Amino acid sequence: MSENTEIGSGFRPSGQLQFGVFFQGVNSGTIWKAPEAGSQTDFESFRRLAQTAERGLFAAFFLGEGLRLREHLGRPHALDVAGRPDAQTMLAALAAVTTKIGLVATQNTTYNDPADLAHRLSSLDLLSGGRAAWNVVTTDNAWTGANFRRGGYLDHADRYRHAEAFVETAKRIWDAWDDGAIAGSTAAPGWAAPDSIRRVRHEGQHYSVDYVPRLPRSAQHRPVLFQAGDSSEGRDFAARQADVIFSAHAKFDAALDFRRDIVARTLKAGRGANDVQIMPASEFILAATAAEALEKKEWVRSLQIGPRQAIAYLEQFWGRELSSYDPDGPLPEIDPVVEETSETRGSGFHGAKARQLADQWRAEAKDKGLSIRQFVSAKTSRVDATFTGSYAEIADRLGDYARAGAVDGFNISPWLVPSGLDDIVNHLVPELQERGIYPTEYGGSTLREHLSLPVPVRSADASPVSAASDVDTAGDDIRLELAVRSQQL
Ligand SMILES: Cc1cc2nc3c(=O)[nH]c(=O)nc-3n(C[C@H](O)[C@H](O)[C@H](O)COP(=O)(O)O)c2cc1C
Repeated sequence: MSENTEIGSGFRPSGQLQFGVFFQGVNSGTIWKAPEAGSQTDFESFRRLAQTAERGLFAAFFLGEGLRLREHLGRPHALDVAGRPDAQTMLAALAAVTTKIGLVATQNTTYNDPADLAHRLSSLDLLSGGRAAWNVVTTDNAWTGANFRRGGYLDHADRYRHAEAFVETAKRIWDAWDDGAIAGSTAAPGWAAPDSIRRVRHEGQHYSVDYVPRLPRSAQHRPVLFQAGDSSEGRDFAARQADVIFSAHAKFDAALDFRRDIVARTLKAGRGANDVQIMPASEFILAATAAEALEKKEWVRSLQIGPRQAIAYLEQFWGRELSSYDPDGPLPEIDPVVEETSETRGSGFHGAKARQLADQWRAEAKDKGLSIRQFVSAKTSRVDATFTGSYAEIADRLGDYARAGAVDGFNISPWLVPSGLDDIVNHLVPELQERGIYPTEYGGSTLREHLSLPVPVRSADASPVSAASDVDTAGDDIRLELAVRSQQL
């Protein structure tokens, strides 16, 4: 652990942690072979996880997004465990069987359209009583575009410019209805006051919007914005737009560095040092004693990474068949045939040069004396993100994060569905509560309240405008105009 835990730049640690649960969907880490493993797709699994999380006062239930199954050498990736119903449909169903927990839908800005997505998210926000959030991603692989009319049509930097205009447009859609737009009494002349609802216009390179939003604001005004994407452009985007970053930096020193980086970017974007919260992806393997936890870890890993999984994992980065290699032997001496690595879903390897990565991994494995299987087991265990130990030990470690303000919480991936949160909720949460670093009740009824986020300032043109106003966003043109009810509604 680093000696210097000072964040600086006016940042003040809250001393508190929040938990989210990240139901991964498509991944190779969820154990499905154990007798206690349940369905990856039945509603019952989602219900059980969400209700357990709520019993443990988790702030949020997250669903990831994958636009198609992952593929390897032209076939669906045989090792993936795929359970990923449409996030908004699933979260809407979960809204009905939970009362407090936030509901976070990962949705990309690259293949959606803003008026449509903003409407679906505000629908979820309204029907859940202000518990919805949008985890904004741009999606990281061109091949997902093949199932869309437009194909893989945006390069990396353009994706973020596009995302920025998209999010700005969505905010305006969510803010288009003034509070009190709907008649408070039957004596009012109409159900909604026409000059309390604004038209949203956007003329951009990739889409146009000319829209009169259909819904009023929710109990939390608008959905909370999460962001997941780790490039420099992604971090700057988060610094400007996000309430919370779903990060890939859970290890203590890396988390501190990431926090410092985000604070600097947030200040540069004209926001306050504490304005963007951070919750890294993480995994917990817990037991009553440290020795039992280590034993459990061995069991988890043996089910996660068998010989076939180990080879298939490397094949993703090498871009070639490696089945002739011995999983208990050294890493392949042969070079990758791809230029860039292709692993999906935001790992730290995304965008890495394949040959460099192979050289680095071979050296690392040799240095540590690891076979393919051992090496892959270490890599995929998200070593940096796995907390293994006794409940008390891990609670103490998390206390260090809270005191330093390295993170605001953890987004936890259960390796077992649907019982993967039981240990955490039954044993870790009480330890954290005893240490005064975890909530003992929900902060209110909305997600914004659970996360102590301020009420958002209405986006540009806080009150209805009588003349068109231009707002320049990342080179795109956004216009807000009065909606004249008699003509438009
Ligand atoms: C922790 C984490 C989780 C992510 N989850 C998803 C996901 O569920 N679906 C998805 O399409 N992208 C996901 N992403 C990646 C985003 O698509 C991201 O926008 C993409 O990697 C491109 O941004 P970047 O180059 O800034 O990382 C995730 C990224 C991170 C760091």
